[in-house]
Amino acid sequence: MKKTLLLSLSVLAILALPAAHAAQDPEAVFNRACGNCHNGQLPQAPKKGDQAAWKPRLAQGEDVLVKHVTEGFNIMPPRGMCTDCSADDYKAVIRWMSH
Ligand code: HEC
Repeated sequence: MKKTLLLSLSVLAILALPAAHAAQDPEAVFNRACGNCHNGQLPQAPKKGDQAAWKPRLAQGEDVLVKHVTEGFNIMPPRGMCTDCSADDYKAVIRWMSH
């Protein structure tokens, strides 16, 4: 009985580990950071879901977009107010907000 409990606890721990390192939830990142500007507050910032505004941006390619977010782009500040976002996080958020 005790052994089974221990075993299932360690299985749970193993399952939980990779989740802690996985990319952040794009919607949460958007709501916490990008959404401060990309929700219509700044006319220059392409809005979430505004596919026409995103089309020419996406045409530059994902790597260019990630670079622009990381380094800043005109009035968008470097890292877009997400200090702990990785390049993969930015990719996921850009995919999420451009559709
Ligand atoms: C302080 C306001 C602000 C925040 C916060 C912000 N942005 Fe932006 N973003 C802008 C503005 C303004 C532009 C348009 C800049 C331009 O085209 O001159 C822009 C443009 C972009 C572009 C297009 C870049 C290009 O090359 O066309 C991407 C992608 C982008 N933002 C992603 C993000 C992501 C992802 C976040 C959150 C992690 C974020 N932004 C947070 C203001 C912001």
